[in-house]
Amino acid sequence: MTRKQLQEKVGIIGKSKAISDLLDIVLQVANSDVTVLIQGESGVGKEVFAKAIHFASSRNTEKLVNVNCGAIPEGILESELFGHIKGSYTGAINDRKGYFEIADNGTLFLDEIAEMPLTTQVKLLRVLETKEFMRIGSEKVTQVNVRIIAAANKDLKSEVDSKRFRSDLYFRLKAVTLQIPPLRERKEDIIPLAEFFLEQNNRKNLGREIFLSKSGEEALLNYHYPGNIRELRNIIESAVALNTTGILTDSDFIPHFQKDLHRDSNPNLPIYMNRTSEDLDREMVYRALIEIKRDLEELKFLAKAQMGTNNFHQIEPKSKTNTEIVPIDEMEKQAILNALEKTKWNKRKAAKLLKINERTFYRKLSDYDL
Ligand SMILES: Nc1ncnc2c1ncn2[C@@H]1O[C@H](COP(=O)(O)OP(=O)(O)OP(=O)(O)O)[C@@H](O)[C@H]1O
Ligand SMILES: [Mg+2]
Repeated sequence: MTRKQLQEKVGIIGKSKAISDLLDIVLQVANSDVTVLIQGESGVGKEVFAKAIHFASSRNTEKLVNVNCGAIPEGILESELFGHIKGSYTGAINDRKGYFEIADNGTLFLDEIAEMPLTTQVKLLRVLETKEFMRIGSEKVTQVNVRIIAAANKDLKSEVDSKRFRSDLYFRLKAVTLQIPPLRERKEDIIPLAEFFLEQNNRKNLGREIFLSKSGEEALLNYHYPGNIRELRNIIESAVALNTTGILTDSDFIPHFQKDLHRDSNPNLPIYMNRTSEDLDREMVYRALIEIKRDLEELKFLAKAQMGTNNFHQIEPKSKTNTEIVPIDEMEKQAILNALEKTKWNKRKAAKLLKINERTFYRKLSDYDL
């Protein structure tokens, strides 16, 4: 299989060197059973690359089983992974296969592995080493032939340093590591991805085609995407939904960007590293210009409204009055997006802000496809 064929098969858009290099590694290791660890910020495409490994391998006629270790309650994670026998604990009313058995001969993708409790990590390491385990409550040894891919958006090495992740498991998992760089470090991929999402939307909105203008492209290129590709997709979808002109310009995107001018004051953000003070100055000026442009547009709008020629009403956001009824799931999704934006897509902090348990938060993220 060639790189291009794999990209088409899995739907991986990108022409940056980083993406080609990663795809080359995928093709090289796909057919060995080596464990692959995929690291990268939220929304960079870790799940997409897990799929790529599976589909490039000879296991591709078998199952790819995806387990989100962050979304499964701690108490049942082991039983979900390894299965159980009837009566092994309250609630175990039948014998049940775990994901390891379900994925037999295929691939098991352990997503958000940093969230796995330390006790389960010990068991996982043993299974990786012996390729056998026992269902909970059983004494019968079960053997499986499973390829493991793990992913984390937290840096596993620092989780090891802070004793939240076992170092022996870490070394076992990282035999091959795919580090997917954030979108802001592979800007060549921004426009092809934007075009791809736009094209998808155009196909959905039969008959209504929307184009990307030069100023739209520039705005997209200058944004820093703390939520990476997922955030870019959301920005395009929102801009398309509100657009009335058929052409997406900078002002269609800017309202959806995070307006945090001081984000660079946090030295822990990876974004800070490769930037010169000149880049930062340029960006400050750019953002100030955008603010001025937005103010001007608002003034223009008000002036037109006063002259009684307000024909902009379609693009006015719906006014939210106290009596307007908004479906609860929409409100919840918006609250989650707001919390993610506020915390620069740090899931742990966002869950705290929303005052919900981290696991519940992960579950809601997948419910809302975020
Ligand atoms: N190279 C790509 N080409 C096209 N779409 C992509 C690409 N990378 C990611 N996406 C899309 O972006 C979204 C997020 O990707 P994905 O779920 O793989 O990210 P992730 O790294 O697993 O995020 P998280 O850490 O939040 O789980 C998905 O809708 C995915 O289809
Ligand atoms: Mg993921």
